[in-house]
Amino acid sequence: MKDLIDALAADRTLPRDELIFLLKNHENEGLLEYLRYISDSVRRTYYSNKIFIRGLIEFSNYCRCGCRYCGINACNKNVLRYRLGKEEILASCRTGYGLGFRTFVLQGGEDVVMDKEMPDIVASIKENYPDCAVTLSLGERSRDYYQELFDAGADRFLLRHETADKEHYVKLHPKGQTLENRIRCLYDLKDIGYQVGSGFMVGSPYQTLENLADDLIFLKELGPHMIGIGPFIPHHDTEFANYPAGSLKLTLFLLGMLRLMHPNALLPSTTALATLSEQGRSLGIQMGANVIMPNLSPDNASTNYQLYDNKLITGSEAAKNLESLKKKMNEIGFEIVTDRGDTKHL
Ligand code: 5AD
Repeated sequence: MKDLIDALAADRTLPRDELIFLLKNHENEGLLEYLRYISDSVRRTYYSNKIFIRGLIEFSNYCRCGCRYCGINACNKNVLRYRLGKEEILASCRTGYGLGFRTFVLQGGEDVVMDKEMPDIVASIKENYPDCAVTLSLGERSRDYYQELFDAGADRFLLRHETADKEHYVKLHPKGQTLENRIRCLYDLKDIGYQVGSGFMVGSPYQTLENLADDLIFLKELGPHMIGIGPFIPHHDTEFANYPAGSLKLTLFLLGMLRLMHPNALLPSTTALATLSEQGRSLGIQMGANVIMPNLSPDNASTNYQLYDNKLITGSEAAKNLESLKKKMNEIGFEIVTDRGDTKHL
């Protein structure tokens, strides 16, 4: 089986049945260890032991969508909804800049009320911090609106495809939200010139290993700059409250596979992974991830931005948290750097 990992590293892809075969063996400790060894060396070729940080600013938890897995979906009446104003967002950037962040990620629900002021907010951040990248994560919009935000200065956009299988997509989302439109958005974003990030949850309800192989194949076709994956974690106020969380081992295995398939991609070790297991964040980094996205949102915002239960809140005392994160990374031989963290080409 190790030869399949070697082939994946050499060809950066595999036939579908071989991807499935590898995934079926994700609990094989020897295989996981070998994958870790290879994917770590691939990552080091491009990024050495450097870890990039992104400051996450959760600007609004209003959302028009009804994603069945997500704690802030429009149907959840128990959420205390909030929106940050421009000054609050700029204040978060100021704190972040002082701590060494050179990328700000503005993430929110699909809150159309904020659409009008968003280009101005993006332009103000770029004006104040011209050496920083602005990443947006605000869902499915028209091509024209994506263009407007790009023209205002946005550099990157995160939109996970969630699942590349049409039937699975329907099980996770209400009528009216289609995989087709999600994919249309991703290609529009790419075409406009954004650095694009996509990805999926591991262990979402009804997901099969075949679905995951199709996710890998879809991402290979899309060729994103960034790929975010994390375990599904149930949220008590959703239809999926009683479904089990995704597996740590499978998430790590997929991270390793993705590193081999996309050697210079920016791969975060996600908050969901850190929430699932105390060692999750470090294990993700050791498996080939090279990005961490600590929270810069004001405390009361992150408290109400619960996509899933027990989501780690790293926002309070951001400085102290960053220090402990730096220490944790040093302990395993990695170094958090002050850098925009763009894709490296050899
Ligand atoms: N568990 C894990 N990840 C989730 N997301 C949304 N809800 C959950 C959940 N319950 C992820 C989705 C989304 C991203 C912002 O968060 O993949 O794209």
